[in-house]
Amino acid sequence: MLRLSRLLSKRWLSSSKPAGSTAAHYFPHEPKGPHLATDSIPGPKSQALNDELGQVFDNRATYFVSDYTNSVGNYISDADGNQLLDMYCQISSIPLGYSNPELLKAARSDEMANALINRPALACFPSTDYKQILQDGILAAAPPGHNKVWTALSGSDANETAFKAAFMYQAAIKRGSRDFSAEEMASAMENKAPGCSDGVILSFDKGFHGRLFGSLSTTRSKAIHKLDIPAFPWPKAPFPALKYPLSENVQANQAEEQRCLDAFESIIESYPPHTVAAIIVEPVQAEGGDNHASAAFFQGIRDITLKHKVLMIVDEVQTGVGASGKFWAHEHWNLTTPPDMVTFSKKFQAAGFYFHDKNLQPNQPYRQFNTWCGDPSKAIIAKTIYQEVVKHGLVEKTAATGAYLYPQLQAVLDKHPDKVLNLRGENFGTFIAWDFVDAGARNKLLAEMRARGVNVGGCGDVSARLRPTLVFENSHADVFLGALEDSLKAL
Ligand SMILES: Cc1ncc(COP(=O)(O)O)c(C=O)c1O
Repeated sequence: MLRLSRLLSKRWLSSSKPAGSTAAHYFPHEPKGPHLATDSIPGPKSQALNDELGQVFDNRATYFVSDYTNSVGNYISDADGNQLLDMYCQISSIPLGYSNPELLKAARSDEMANALINRPALACFPSTDYKQILQDGILAAAPPGHNKVWTALSGSDANETAFKAAFMYQAAIKRGSRDFSAEEMASAMENKAPGCSDGVILSFDKGFHGRLFGSLSTTRSKAIHKLDIPAFPWPKAPFPALKYPLSENVQANQAEEQRCLDAFESIIESYPPHTVAAIIVEPVQAEGGDNHASAAFFQGIRDITLKHKVLMIVDEVQTGVGASGKFWAHEHWNLTTPPDMVTFSKKFQAAGFYFHDKNLQPNQPYRQFNTWCGDPSKAIIAKTIYQEVVKHGLVEKTAATGAYLYPQLQAVLDKHPDKVLNLRGENFGTFIAWDFVDAGARNKLLAEMRARGVNVGGCGDVSARLRPTLVFENSHADVFLGALEDSLKAL
């Protein structure tokens, strides 16, 4: 309310949702713009609740305390009654908007109640309907070339189970037809070779693949994530640092990508065969600063992995499920052969990895295993998400919204070359980011945006990233652009 008069002149008031708006279909009462009830965010109620929570839970990263029952569509409500256009979306993990009626219907179904109160240990006692739930949802959404899935519990777990599959796959090739030896069995119990593998997973500088023990060893984005935690001595390859605008730096960027491919191949060659079990790469290094590379670079990675019989894992935990303007971001590359594994989580709510080679399933049960091995309740939600995305053409619509937003964002940023640079994510849906001259300017801009009722996230050292829902439309983009124009002026 407070700043409503200040916002009155803004472009969002003149924009209305177009016919065919999926947001209007789902959320007839979605706010038309931010609603600000307190002078600052977090407001007093948010702060008081957070103080109480802090007595029992480490909440020092809290932006504000949210009221999810009053959050609708692209708007998140906080405890004080502020309603913000959410372009961060629970760290990139809300696909269909808050309080989506179709997800609510799925949540209230008998199928869901059964999945929730009778949670199965899926690898031992799978439910009669698990195959169908997977078939109609997670597997229906499988990237080209993939027809199998292993379900997991989080993005980190998805990656770690993929790593385990890779290690067991490569060890099986080395072992050939013989069984495990007595020495392998005994040394495994001492955490030693040959029973424990000396294999490695190669990741890229500035990559982020999670924070559990195995995945953290492949994460290379920020030291603070890794400090004090034991790590595997695994290699990292350089990731291209592209120059922008891309059209003015074609040759320099090609040379940079070739430099990285050469380094990547020589690292692989420095290990004995089958020792680099797999490489893991994000289509866009999101946490590490939204670093992009060209389709040719990723094809180069694929060629080198095939040449050296190293598995290629594409980590689509953040890029997957439509935001890039393709359901899976690696579909932008048109690879000549599909990657060996594709991991997912976040916007799909369920987690796991896709694969197609049956040898990625270990030779015995219980080798890839935990109590739950996924969660049917999350698989039901993933099914609904997939079906809604298809029904409403949300991937195509996200591509169109990105195409509407990108040039206008470019024009806004172009007015402030002293503050912002390196806009990226053209023709990549709403998966867009740009840099600031320093972290202070970035952090101030994010605070200014929140004060205008728009929640945007940072990434890397100096970047802002857009991670809205798949029902973020041109009218929402207008709200964002208006707030950004004002915030940049205030910087
Ligand atoms: C690309 C990528 N991989 C893996 C992860 C880890 O996922 P989770 O936090 O669910 O373990 C993230 C989380 O941000 C991610 O962005």
